[in-house]
Amino acid sequence: MKVQGTPTRTIWLNDDGWSVGIIDQTKLPHRFETLTLGTLADVAAAIGDMLVRGAPLIGAAAAYGVALAMHADTSDAALKKACRVLMATRPTAINLRWALDDMAGHLGRVPARKRMAVAYARAATIADDDVAQNAAIARHGLALFEAAKRRGGPGAPLNVLTHCNAGWLATVDWGTALGPVYMAHDLGFPIHVWVDETRPRNQGASLTAWELGQHGVPHTVIVDNAGGHLMQAGEVDLCIVGSDRTTANGDVCNKIGTYLKALAAFDNDVPFYVAVPGTSIDWALREGVGHIPIEERDGGEVASVTGLDEDGRMTTVRLTPASSPLRNIAFDVTPARLVTGLITERGIAEASMESLAELYPEHDPKGATG
Ligand code: MRU
Repeated sequence: MKVQGTPTRTIWLNDDGWSVGIIDQTKLPHRFETLTLGTLADVAAAIGDMLVRGAPLIGAAAAYGVALAMHADTSDAALKKACRVLMATRPTAINLRWALDDMAGHLGRVPARKRMAVAYARAATIADDDVAQNAAIARHGLALFEAAKRRGGPGAPLNVLTHCNAGWLATVDWGTALGPVYMAHDLGFPIHVWVDETRPRNQGASLTAWELGQHGVPHTVIVDNAGGHLMQAGEVDLCIVGSDRTTANGDVCNKIGTYLKALAAFDNDVPFYVAVPGTSIDWALREGVGHIPIEERDGGEVASVTGLDEDGRMTTVRLTPASSPLRNIAFDVTPARLVTGLITERGIAEASMESLAELYPEHDPKGATG
């Protein structure tokens, strides 16, 4: 996607051929700043502190984290340590484990002297594959948009509601849930996006709104609790969200609040779609509720909000009484029965074990537990 007209990915190899560039997403939408990561510790901190975030981008960043670790030391011990350190950064997005297993598998098969080159090549492939998968999701999602009922009548824009940020900033490029939105907009299909602010970190208000604006897509930011009312009022034609982990039966784990949107959509007969690359499917888990590790983050994120002050300086202010206890649950699980369909790079699946297994015959969900 473009930033001020320049095609930009969220992660790249710098011209020195070994260090890694990222966008510091904690500064958006107020400042567009890029950063260089040079060590395993840099990457672990960037993922843990959410300078890079979003399930597919976490996976790609972890792959580059392994490459940076191999730049310093190609021993078995260094490879093991890199996977251990990166795996501990964030617990919910399955793409992290997928990418680390993939890297460890490829590097484990080659002698130590070849590991650095293989690691960089494999990380680049993971990043490129993510872009290709998301472009395919965009094409399948576009067909759904074209067939969707527009409550405003023929010629009215399709009103799409999304939660959190599942756009290009959450991936290497294109985005999952927002990929079809960009493709539709580029083809002149009238579309408007309701953007949930997504407390506590406001990925919707800060990131989704920023990237849609950069691309010229009509959108409106709403508070998290407005979606149900808009659905009752007939102002939402379709919901589309991303996924941090989808289990073999089609349960979807995504940013906290997704479940409530799915309930409201179900009650109002609004289709609820989830854009899911194959790398976000956890074939080892039969179902999600009660089985997916749900990240809990520092309560300070609930107690405060960060933005620009009157002088244009980024500042954080406290919202809650200093003495109030806080709990910061970062994800929830939407049961498959509330999901109209899963948009994958291989096509659209029903949220069911049978339908997913048909699209991904190389995985056998029968062995799944949970
Ligand atoms: O905590 P975050 O910002 O990493 O959470 C991101 C989300 O929940 C996204 O919706 C999800 O990763 C899907 S991204 C294409």
